[in-house]
Amino acid sequence: MASRPTTRPDRRTFAIISHPDAGKTTLTEKLLLFGGAIRAAGEVKARGAARRARSDWMKIEQQRGISVTSSVMTFEREGLTFNLLDTPGHEDFSEDTYRTLTAVDSAVMVIDAARGIEAQTRKLFEVCRLRSVPIITFINKVDREGRSPFELIDEVADQLALDVSPMNWPIGMGGQFEGLYSLERCDVQRPSGEADRSYDGDVTATTGLDDARLDTLISAQAAAQLREDAELAGAGYAAFDEVAYQNGDLTPVFFGSALKDFGVADLIDALARFAPSPRPQPAEPAPVSPDDPAVTGFIFKVQANMNPMHRDRVAFMRLCSGKFRRGMKLNQVGTGKAIAVHSPILFFAQNRETAEEAFPGDIIGIPNHGTLRVGDTLTDGPARTITGLPNFAPEQLRRVVLKDPTKTKQLRKALDDLAEEGIIQVFYPEVGGQWIVGVVGQLQLEVLISRLEVEYKVDAMLEPSPWNTARWIAGEADVLKTFIADHRAAIATDRDGRAVFMAKDNWELSYVEERNRSLRFSATKERA
Ligand code: G4P
Repeated sequence: MASRPTTRPDRRTFAIISHPDAGKTTLTEKLLLFGGAIRAAGEVKARGAARRARSDWMKIEQQRGISVTSSVMTFEREGLTFNLLDTPGHEDFSEDTYRTLTAVDSAVMVIDAARGIEAQTRKLFEVCRLRSVPIITFINKVDREGRSPFELIDEVADQLALDVSPMNWPIGMGGQFEGLYSLERCDVQRPSGEADRSYDGDVTATTGLDDARLDTLISAQAAAQLREDAELAGAGYAAFDEVAYQNGDLTPVFFGSALKDFGVADLIDALARFAPSPRPQPAEPAPVSPDDPAVTGFIFKVQANMNPMHRDRVAFMRLCSGKFRRGMKLNQVGTGKAIAVHSPILFFAQNRETAEEAFPGDIIGIPNHGTLRVGDTLTDGPARTITGLPNFAPEQLRRVVLKDPTKTKQLRKALDDLAEEGIIQVFYPEVGGQWIVGVVGQLQLEVLISRLEVEYKVDAMLEPSPWNTARWIAGEADVLKTFIADHRAAIATDRDGRAVFMAKDNWELSYVEERNRSLRFSATKERA
């Protein structure tokens, strides 16, 4: 594997984006297994289950068999450290998912060969596109009947408006699956002779598609098809271009089977060779270079009450520059508070380990009691603020109604905590006393009610609100003031005191936007 010239240990910090059932869990297990981080496949699920069983508030996860939380897994291969940030795999997902994608340098997009691109794949892809995150595509389950490779590749190109560059080609699929042909190396990987027909690592080199050996390695029909397909693919698709990939304009496409180990090693190898090392992070007043000696990082996720017995919370920090050492004092930009990081957590597979040191690209868990918020920048150098961590416009708004009105204080605290974690957004309307919560997906509402009950002992209900969407509004002070006065009933402030306009539907939103062109209505709010 190629290593890049750098004076610090190199990292590949990435996430897997996919629609539920495409095979993300299976691929994660295999990546960890190939990386030597776990002994046997199946442990990700098994450990996940054990973790869930321990955690009370996660009962929704048990009921619905899904993972609401994200975690971080680290593995090494040939001296290079990979940090895999997990994103929840359910259709409903919170801002937590989006924000995790702000902490990665690249992503692997897993697609089911029978289903192609699905709703959540596209949503997550759009978030990656906002930041030009480079994407490697893995078309999974070629050991099963799937759609034609051309159809699948064209779908990626058309629906995501990306250049595509196939790196390997499936030799048949499903019952006819005879292996993979590397378009890069011209070698053949075949299923082992055993019953489950997994890949055992055996590679047979050829001199290319004209090599007569192909006809002995695979069936005559498969060889003819492969020659025809590969020729068409070579003529029809872009050659791999590392710069275009790193700019987020081109995706290399690998076919494979996570279950049968096909394509997994090539995927890790591609991450090692092509995926970007930690890059300069957008920040004010200037981007933070990973080579900057000052330690700088930002909080992209806060997880509260991991253990319901203690009100502990862990803030996940992505390190952007400098060499972090345990016990360091970092300043929280904005408040100027000094935070001594005595017991940071590095995530190695699912085990917590105390971190002695960490480098740009690494994720550190910082236990704290609520001081650290999503979007915070921590540094031991000059004050800088990492930018680009968006809040997303909620797609569902609900009124929170307390069953016991004496619990107002507890409710306020709970809503603040959960908003801090990115589970919900909270809006305080200008008119009327009932608070509004906004979420991107239905699941977040269930999580909210369950956690209010279990963790905060607050019995609350959610009622429909007259609004369904919200936009942050900004503009010249006097124009904004007039707008707010004219639309008082639909105005609220968020936790940071920023003005928000709430609309019944997209039609109303467009209507109001159209009539107030001097104002900016934004679906995302960046924490500056
Ligand atoms: P997810 O995390 O993206 O939701 O998907 P997951 O890995 O759990 O995979 C979903 C289902 O697809 C699983 O089957 C899994 O075994 C299967 N699968 C994943 N990769 C492949 C592949 O390359 N080939 C084939 N044929 N199947 C694959 P399941 O029956 O739902 O779960 P399980 O009982 O096997 O765990």
